[in-house]
Amino acid sequence: PYGLQSRVGDLLEAHLSKKSTNKENLAHNASLRGSNGNNSPNDKELYENEKPFARSVVAERILKRRSLEMRNKQEDWEESPEGQKMRELRRNLPAYKEREALLRAISENQVVVVSGETGCGKTTQLPQYILEAEIEAAHGATCNIICTQPRRISAMAVAERVAAERGENLGESVGYKVRLEGMRGRDTRLLFCTTGILLRRLLVDRKLEGVTHVIVDEIHERGMNEDFLLIVLKDLLPRRPELRLILMSATLNAELFSSYFGGAPMIHIPGFTYPVRSHFLENILEMTRYRLTPYNQIDNYGQDKMWKMQKQTIRKRKTQIASDVEEALEAADFGQYNPLTRDSLSCWNPDSIGFNLIERVLCHICRNERPGAVLVFMTGWDDINSVKDQLQAHPLLGDPSRVLLLSCHGSMASAEQKLIFDKPEDGIRKIVLATNMAETSITINDVVFVVDCGKAKETSYDAINNTPCLLPSWISKASARQRKGRAGRVQPGECYHLYPRCVYEAFADYQLPELLRTPLQSLCLQIKSLQLGSISDFLSKAMQSPEPLSVQNAIDYLKTIGALDEKENLTVLGHNLSMLPVEPKLGKMIILGVVFNCLDPVLTVVAGLSARDPFLMPFDKKDLAESAKAQFSARDFSDHLALVRAYDGWKDAERQQSGYEYCWKNFLSAQTLKAMDSLRKQFLYLLKDIGLVDSFQSCNAWSNDEHLVRAIVCGGLFPGICSVVNKEKSISLKTMEDGGVLLYSNSVNAQEPQIPYPWLVFNEKVKVNAVFLRDSTAISDSVVLLFGGSISGKALDGHLMMLGGYLEFFMSPSLANTYVSLKRELNELVHKK
Ligand code: CDP
Ligand code: MG
Repeated sequence: PYGLQSRVGDLLEAHLSKKSTNKENLAHNASLRGSNGNNSPNDKELYENEKPFARSVVAERILKRRSLEMRNKQEDWEESPEGQKMRELRRNLPAYKEREALLRAISENQVVVVSGETGCGKTTQLPQYILEAEIEAAHGATCNIICTQPRRISAMAVAERVAAERGENLGESVGYKVRLEGMRGRDTRLLFCTTGILLRRLLVDRKLEGVTHVIVDEIHERGMNEDFLLIVLKDLLPRRPELRLILMSATLNAELFSSYFGGAPMIHIPGFTYPVRSHFLENILEMTRYRLTPYNQIDNYGQDKMWKMQKQTIRKRKTQIASDVEEALEAADFGQYNPLTRDSLSCWNPDSIGFNLIERVLCHICRNERPGAVLVFMTGWDDINSVKDQLQAHPLLGDPSRVLLLSCHGSMASAEQKLIFDKPEDGIRKIVLATNMAETSITINDVVFVVDCGKAKETSYDAINNTPCLLPSWISKASARQRKGRAGRVQPGECYHLYPRCVYEAFADYQLPELLRTPLQSLCLQIKSLQLGSISDFLSKAMQSPEPLSVQNAIDYLKTIGALDEKENLTVLGHNLSMLPVEPKLGKMIILGVVFNCLDPVLTVVAGLSARDPFLMPFDKKDLAESAKAQFSARDFSDHLALVRAYDGWKDAERQQSGYEYCWKNFLSAQTLKAMDSLRKQFLYLLKDIGLVDSFQSCNAWSNDEHLVRAIVCGGLFPGICSVVNKEKSISLKTMEDGGVLLYSNSVNAQEPQIPYPWLVFNEKVKVNAVFLRDSTAISDSVVLLFGGSISGKALDGHLMMLGGYLEFFMSPSLANTYVSLKRELNELVHKK
């Protein structure tokens, strides 16, 4: 086994070091570098045909010409009738009044903090003001403005909007770039990108050469990437005195950022919103109780068969609603919630009546309220989907053709996005079910009613047990205010908070920064690959530093997988992982897939794990859906292999034009499979770019070997591993940190009475009420030995030490014996050397 182990390691290292010599030329990053004006075919020839000493003169001339062209084009648009109409619209935004002050502040100061109500025009206007001013001053071709957004969808939507406001197509002077996707051209001078993209660019371009302005948007959210970027930029500013940094924030904690940057000037854009009335649970229950449409009116509504069939359900639901109301009112009246402590929030559990409440409020709005769109804040994608299912053709909402039910979340299709922003025809009620991303980063203008469930899915991190948690938790007062504000964009609005007022009083003022509540592995890897020195020293420079234990856990993890060596230096593997825009574990899987020539299935696994689960589990057909999934697993105890088979089957079906039927029959999401398909393509493109892969064909000799795929999944997921002990009636699973753990019921392994393997590797471990594992694959002892850990020849000793720890902990006798003899063999080898 030692021979094999070291071959795995050597192969990997040989492969990686060969390829990483051309790392400085990484094309995907280089393409971000933006053109400095000398790469159009003609201009390029012009430039290259010159003798070297004359080139700079030619370049300057070309740039000047282009700047003038841009100015002419801008002036033409401003004078055109559409351009004037647009200008009128833009001038009505509150940001316009501050235009001159903003531009002056930016030219006089290196850092400026801008705050203002959501919708006042920060994101769409401010970067545009800078661009316009640069173009007017005939610096169009040399300015280079980057504006970061925390989310893909806002980067794309905003870029599209700004391009339209300038009378252009995307990819002219305005473009966007998000992970694995983008649209920009030779003349793109204002680029909207996700914060992650800018961080990635810093990898190859540490001084942001050629960039004139960096605008970091939505900093009040205190996302991890934004906080991280601010540390890096703070460090960079003294070395790039001409670079301008603008921070934009919605709520009013601007002072915090200003003082982080040594008292940078703050500019506040006074906004306008119409008054919004708050309704807390107490009044909502009253309001909806008496205004429900009487049953006989619904009966008159249609002769349609469907309605008749639903009569029974309605009657049932009405009784249920009545009793719910009583209960909730009682609870509220009895003041179970002690407003004095935040702990008291846990005794109010809206989930028990949550969906019903949303239904009820929506019915109330649709039947009794004035026209206007409704924005519903929900906790997550799952809730959105199940509520959407329940609401489709809901009898109490009225005529289904008059209701436009939409969902809004991070990864929706762009056709759906457009519908969200568009005003529907008169008489049609638009209802948008959204996650908290609709809180600040996108603005839907015609919203008059907001329904706020009071919670948001928040990642948190339990450093002591080294376990990430994803729980719906109460939002902060700042968030609740923000949500409410969304109702007053065009006229006075109403906000329905689905919790009692005293619960609101107990909310925290602001949410904890993400840096303090997530695992830090990817971040630490980035710190190392940006050569920012010691991880702990670097993180101590953050606005609020994470706990030392969290940092240590992340470093330990990176050492375990072989991304960092003992001295915390980046290994070749680590360097390559930092180039791939996925979590380290998925990156490692991809690299193993390349090295072992079975890239195809591995790409599917990685695409599946970084998109969302394509296996649908509808509430009411859970059994059917589970058995459909089980068919794909063919009793080989692997969710990952089931995923590969489902995907391959779909590809076949697509070729025969029956993709949709296939999805329908097998409870698969065609949309997610398509997203996976494009992710796979993009990964492949990237791998070619980096130089890890020459051609797809060359990496697939072993793609049909499922044992190998299993092993590679283990190679990526380790140390995400738990031991399996089959008991008479159940299976007991244990990880080192948590003791007993459970499987999510949609795992194929959750249905098995016995699992004839000693280990399960898992993709994710989440603490909900117990600790649950998501997506697992059963593996044998030898696979753990060969693929678990750093699998680098050099680090073998450390790896075995750690494995030894695992083995002793789980006391697997056969494996422990192998381990002891391996260790002996290794010691001998080391001493001989
Ligand atoms: O960033 P901030 O919240 O301050 O506002 P913004 O995103 O720049 O939006 C300013 C205004 O542009 C909004 O009030 C919308 O009226 C409009 N807008 C739009 O109509 N369509 C978009 N896709 C984005 C913004
Ligand atoms: Mg904005």
